[in-house]
Amino acid sequence: MSYKKYKKFEPVKLENREWPSKTIDKAPIWCSVDLRDGNQALPVPMNVDKKTKMFNLLKDMGFKEIEVGFPSASKAEFEFTRKLIEENMLDDDMTIQVLTQAREKLIAKTFDAIDGCKRAIVHVYNSTSTLQRKVVFKKNRKEIIDIAVEGVKLVKEFAKKSNVEEITLEYSPESFTGTELDFALEICEAVIATWNPTKENKIIINLPATVEMSMPNIYADQIEWFCKNISCRENVIISVHTHNDRGTGVAATELAMLAGADRVEGTLFGNGERTGNLDLLTVAMNLYSQGINPRLNIIDINNIINIYEECTMLKVHERHPYAGELVYTAFSGSHQDAIKKGLDCYNNENNDYWEVPYLPINPADIGREYEAIIRINSQSGKGGIAYILESQYGYKLPKKMHPEVGTIVQKVTDNTGKELNPNEILNIFTKEYIEQENSAIVLNNFTSKIENKKAKLKDVEVTMVAELTFKNEEKTIKGKGNGPIAAFVNGVRELNIPKFKLVEYEEHSMNGGADAQAVAYIGLINENGVTKYGIGKDSNINLASIKALISAVNRHMK
Ligand code: KIV
Ligand code: ZN
Repeated sequence: MSYKKYKKFEPVKLENREWPSKTIDKAPIWCSVDLRDGNQALPVPMNVDKKTKMFNLLKDMGFKEIEVGFPSASKAEFEFTRKLIEENMLDDDMTIQVLTQAREKLIAKTFDAIDGCKRAIVHVYNSTSTLQRKVVFKKNRKEIIDIAVEGVKLVKEFAKKSNVEEITLEYSPESFTGTELDFALEICEAVIATWNPTKENKIIINLPATVEMSMPNIYADQIEWFCKNISCRENVIISVHTHNDRGTGVAATELAMLAGADRVEGTLFGNGERTGNLDLLTVAMNLYSQGINPRLNIIDINNIINIYEECTMLKVHERHPYAGELVYTAFSGSHQDAIKKGLDCYNNENNDYWEVPYLPINPADIGREYEAIIRINSQSGKGGIAYILESQYGYKLPKKMHPEVGTIVQKVTDNTGKELNPNEILNIFTKEYIEQENSAIVLNNFTSKIENKKAKLKDVEVTMVAELTFKNEEKTIKGKGNGPIAAFVNGVRELNIPKFKLVEYEEHSMNGGADAQAVAYIGLINENGVTKYGIGKDSNINLASIKALISAVNRHMK
């Protein structure tokens, strides 16, 4: 069997591991590598205009450290770095990061690229993995350490001559996850000894899961082991940079934060080589959803998506955590019902904490809308339909009416097999109840008059005259009662209509202000015990009720 050719990843020998009982209580130092690692993995890499747009987005989001490119690798990368500096595009509290291999010519070019900037992180890397040493470089451990140390010496020399006020060194033992831990430590210690960091001028040691090779707990063990064994930990910022080959890049980063990582590198929506880099937004939103300030401005996710899609020409997947088009949409009826109840409870009880079933965060926090939460298909329940009619269109249906409306809408979804949007639901609802076609009774005119022949106000008698079309014939009916509705009920019985009894009446106003409309809901039960509802809408509450009654009778006569 072919799986037998794969080896199990060796666990880390870590006694008394501590990360499993730790918690995350603050955001890490973020570093976006969208413009370098993300960009190099795009089918069509960003041009200077797109890089500028992406840079401005990252800056608006509050990234203080941004890897802007690999300036020695191409003219475009070099020019973009120059543009940022020459056009003063960096805020005072921002630091650009530039990647270089540990080779003199490339380091020299990198320093040319950052000339004149206030602060920069020079990021030197070389691959250290067992496999790459053997098959790519054909070098032993010492020779690989020499590459790193020589590179760092050169950076030190160039830094002395440079006019950049503050230079931080970042060193990455590339393919860290495929490197023996003792060797990763040895090479990093050699780099540290060469650079000589202090508490005030720390070195960044970045430990990349260049390829995600194991479960995230093993990466966390590697990070904890490294943090515990490195000398002068206080002079070192431990950075993590996970890729997503096993689909657990986010988990690996979060566990690595428990294990001691101070800094996190990644990209928006996880763009990057193969299955991508770490998705920074997901980690930030995960912190946010735990009540931790993510220290990134993520409140307009739609804008972030738009710029990301324009610059990368990639699409954010519909199911992408927090951002996907469908992630605040419930298709199942029971989910919809629970969400409606949760939202009602949250809105009515002024809760301090967000607790709504199936919605880990309030979509409105990041510029998404409640309207998109529920769509109706043949799997949806009555609660979801009532929720749409109330939340989007203001109809507060009596509870007992929900099943009837649900059945009517679901008949359409069953027949078409299609999902309905809120507007289509409203159309079905309006046609059935409010703007009925081919109905038995159409009200053309209605007048009523109060006659008070008796002494007390409560003894008034109302007479009404209604002009109707009944089964295509014009009719005038008259009736008396203690109010206009009762008078109409008495009058309409003159027509040849089934006998009914009123079992439900509710009303409310809609819109408010000068054009306020009253909506009335009436339930009529016929002689066979079948209840059907009608709805009337008018600026006059009496007329709204009469229209509701006619609507219910018409539905009984269909
Ligand atoms: O994934 C990786 O190892 C890298 C390094 C250059 C840090 O991108
Ligand atoms: Zn990478």
